[in-house]
Amino acid sequence: MNNDIERVLYSEEEINRRMDELAKQLTAEYREQRPLIISVMTGAVLFTVDMIKRMDIMAKLDFIDVSSYYGGTSSTGEVKLVQDLKSDIRGRSILIMEDIVDTGHTLKFLIELLKERGAKSVKVCTLLDKPEGRQVEVKADYVGFNVPNEFLVGYGLDYKGYYRNLPYVGILKPAVYEKD
Ligand code: PRP
Ligand code: MN
Ligand code: MG
Repeated sequence: MNNDIERVLYSEEEINRRMDELAKQLTAEYREQRPLIISVMTGAVLFTVDMIKRMDIMAKLDFIDVSSYYGGTSSTGEVKLVQDLKSDIRGRSILIMEDIVDTGHTLKFLIELLKERGAKSVKVCTLLDKPEGRQVEVKADYVGFNVPNEFLVGYGLDYKGYYRNLPYVGILKPAVYEKD
């Protein structure tokens, strides 16, 4: 699996260090709010579990599964709700956890959905932000790293469902997806 990676962009150590900083900020922000943390499956699951262990707050955890890439390298722009939340979110302070914001379609869809359902506030924490990829206007409140316009895998990010379990974020060798 490591052979398919052209270059490591963020090592496990760098990700850990950045998560310590982000978690400190989020702990301060949510100390008195008891947020509902919503992890966007599947990509954000690794980031979510590693972050919540670092946050000294009272929070609930829920998952939502939305998809727009269907495993490939480019967004279809059409976001599908694959599996809904368990929680009632009316009046709740929501913190969405994402692995990456690229075109922005996924996040826009989620924020609109949560606001429609009566969330009190919706904030977003993403490990990676790719501003050059943006097709719709949407912003994350907490960003781990701003990334270049490359196809990335690892630490939750996949190509055709694989590479999520890499402990780092790297650039996939174009040869891997060109032959498909
Ligand atoms: C990826 C990623 C984000 C979203 C970002 O999810 O995990 O959720 O795309 O892209 P966007 O800003 O262009 O919408 P994907 O749809 O691949 O599902 P997955 O998390 O199950 O891999
Ligand atoms: Mn995702
Ligand atoms: Mg994906």
